[in-house]
Amino acid sequence: MFTGKVALITGAAQGLGKSFAAALLQQGCKVCVADINDVKLQGTLKGFQSVYGENCVISSKCDVTNERDFEETFKQAKSSFGQINIVVNNAGVVDEENWQRCLDINLVSVIRGTLLGLRYLRKDCGGTGGTIINVSSMAGIFPVEYSPAYCASKHGVVGYTRSWALHPDVQRNGVRLLCLCPAYTKTNILDYKPKDPGDLELVQKSIKTLGIMRVEKVTDAFLKLLKDEDNNGNVLSVTNLGTQYWKMAKM
Ligand SMILES: NC(=O)c1ccc[n+]([C@@H]2O[C@H](COP(=O)([O-])OP(=O)(O)OC[C@H]3O[C@@H](n4cnc5c(N)ncnc54)[C@H](O)[C@@H]3O)[C@@H](O)[C@H]2O)c1
Repeated sequence: MFTGKVALITGAAQGLGKSFAAALLQQGCKVCVADINDVKLQGTLKGFQSVYGENCVISSKCDVTNERDFEETFKQAKSSFGQINIVVNNAGVVDEENWQRCLDINLVSVIRGTLLGLRYLRKDCGGTGGTIINVSSMAGIFPVEYSPAYCASKHGVVGYTRSWALHPDVQRNGVRLLCLCPAYTKTNILDYKPKDPGDLELVQKSIKTLGIMRVEKVTDAFLKLLKDEDNNGNVLSVTNLGTQYWKMAKM
């Protein structure tokens, strides 16, 4: 199903993005891995090239908050592989102290990546259609008392993605838009500790209740989103209890 397809994944030097990239490479997809952390990115690229071959994967140093960087990444992917079929806006941070940065990376840059994705994927723009997956979170569905900025950014991703998915022009031009909403997963993002001791206690309590998933579990959910048909506009959560498509209200 993925042989001959091309994916562009942000925040793919480590964590979930890296695991999504590996899963697609394993299934014959070509991948452009993009990240702001060039040292980690080069290590990831070398590792992938040694397993999947040099022609299947490229890397692009990219700060998703920088319009020119991000556009250059799309150009590199297209010129290396001829087309782009899957865009995964995955780069994200938790930063309640610098909440503008949190919103800028998690929401504004997902909007930027979605608009670029639409431009490269839409059939009326010279693309072949395809899928845009925006990585939100369970914090995109439920409130989170110790992380309001992160929560707002992830709710924004859900609303933005679902809105574009409804647009008739986008549907006519062969693009599906989807949201992935994981619960706590074992990656470096969990190293973030709130400054306030009371908030830290709340995080620890929440993690104790919900548990921490392995990245493989979220990667399986990611593949499910890509493989399921007729799921345009859907929001898929993944927790220790399994995956669930959310029936969300429409006007
Ligand atoms: N791990 C979890 O518990 C969890 C739960 C729900 C949602 N998520 C979401 O999953 C996504 C991936 O996170 P992760 O868990 O793999 O964390 P991670 O910290 O391991 O990976 C995030 C990646 O994003 C990159 N990044 C950060 N800012 C960037 C920028 N400006 N430009 C480009 N790249 C940038 C980082 O360098 C890093 O490689 C995020 O959107 C996160 O919010 C994670």
